[in-house]
Amino acid sequence: MRREVGGLQSSAGEPPADGSSELWDRCAQSVGGGVSSGLRRTIMPWPLFVERGQGCRVWDVDGREYIDYVMGWGPLILGHSHPELIHAVRDQLELGSLYGTGHRLEYTAAEMVIESVPGLQRILWSNTGTEAVHVAMRLARAHTGRTKIIKFVGGYHGWTDSVLASYSSHTAGTAATSNSKGQSVAAQQDLIVLPFGDVSSVTEVLSHAAAEGVAGVLIDPIMSNYGLIEPPAGYLEAVRSACTANNVVLIFDDVIAGFRIALGGSTERFGVVPDLVVFAKAIAGGFSQSAVGGSAQLIDQVLDGVVHAGTYNGNPIALAAVRATLTQLRQPGRYAALEDTAQSLADGLNAIFSELRAPLHAHHLGPIVQMMPIAAGQEVAFGPGIDWSYWDMLTNACRQRGLFLLPRGRLFLSTVHGADDIAETIAAFRDAVRQLR
Ligand SMILES: Cc1ncc(COP(=O)(O)O)c(C=O)c1O
Repeated sequence: MRREVGGLQSSAGEPPADGSSELWDRCAQSVGGGVSSGLRRTIMPWPLFVERGQGCRVWDVDGREYIDYVMGWGPLILGHSHPELIHAVRDQLELGSLYGTGHRLEYTAAEMVIESVPGLQRILWSNTGTEAVHVAMRLARAHTGRTKIIKFVGGYHGWTDSVLASYSSHTAGTAATSNSKGQSVAAQQDLIVLPFGDVSSVTEVLSHAAAEGVAGVLIDPIMSNYGLIEPPAGYLEAVRSACTANNVVLIFDDVIAGFRIALGGSTERFGVVPDLVVFAKAIAGGFSQSAVGGSAQLIDQVLDGVVHAGTYNGNPIALAAVRATLTQLRQPGRYAALEDTAQSLADGLNAIFSELRAPLHAHHLGPIVQMMPIAAGQEVAFGPGIDWSYWDMLTNACRQRGLFLLPRGRLFLSTVHGADDIAETIAAFRDAVRQLR
């Protein structure tokens, strides 16, 4: 399964075979594709096989230490094995892992979420972001009696047939482009796909919402999987008022942004209150729990014919993790510190890129840093056509210098990435960029 890196072996250097590449081969004999989630195959030069994680660091099967910027693809907002989180989960484990009926953590954790995010009255628990998006769309459809959902080009909302579309590729027009073989064409017919950030296209479709059968707008306000884009000024407000005027349910997909870019996620950061908001990832600090939040009117449809189910929903282990994570995140100064760390990392990286003329530029939004390729001095817009070969080579060179990085230029930070880690990271990047020159 070993692969070439960016087709530029001469400057990047042949990645040395290591324990991870050997275990990946072995894993592929019993696990489909050698990974448990398809995107992990894109980790360059191959998936790292990790023995343990502590704080902002992981150690691989060869005993090598890395500063981790993958952070489980977003959830590890407190880093690995945060003592308070581990303590809470261990205590709960002694009391049982699953009851299949009521327990106190269901409402104590829900109350913490409701207190943290403006506009919420109720929560529904589920396990993954994918499931929670599905629940939110069902609530929107039940409420409006319509079926169509507006999503945006490049938005990723999980892997189900009804939303895995126009993310990794999109054909011009408003019809959905399937992104996997084997998808139901019928499910995709309920999507209307529009460009992100363009007020007129979305307000135009929403003005015919009743006639077109539009139930909801599903939006990741920061396009966290598509270049990390700050919504243009006034955009979310315009979408909000067009949804209200046309009885369409506005759903924020805060699977990445929630509890990461602010305690109250996109709602707090941008000051626009959606009808429903979906959380996963950081809400449970690395355990599997997701939620849909919204008004009592929308959520209480579960008492009136809307099915919401799941054996592991609201399990006490994950909810102990939610409570411990939110307790930590509510401490004063947490988000200001995360912002400062991200800013110093992005600034340090940009200084290297301009000094050594590397074709990259870093920006950040909260504790997420995104690097984009630059062609002929111009920043490149995110999209399927981007040439990531330089990033792939750099990732490999950085890995050899003790940094564990995601594909496509994105770095997740946590509350335990400190000034020393950032300095070490910038030094490793400098060395790696120099090697590639
Ligand atoms: C914005 C967004 N929505 C939904 C999902 C799906 O979440 P999960 O992988 O927990 O099913 C993801 C996953 O990365 C995501 O980034």
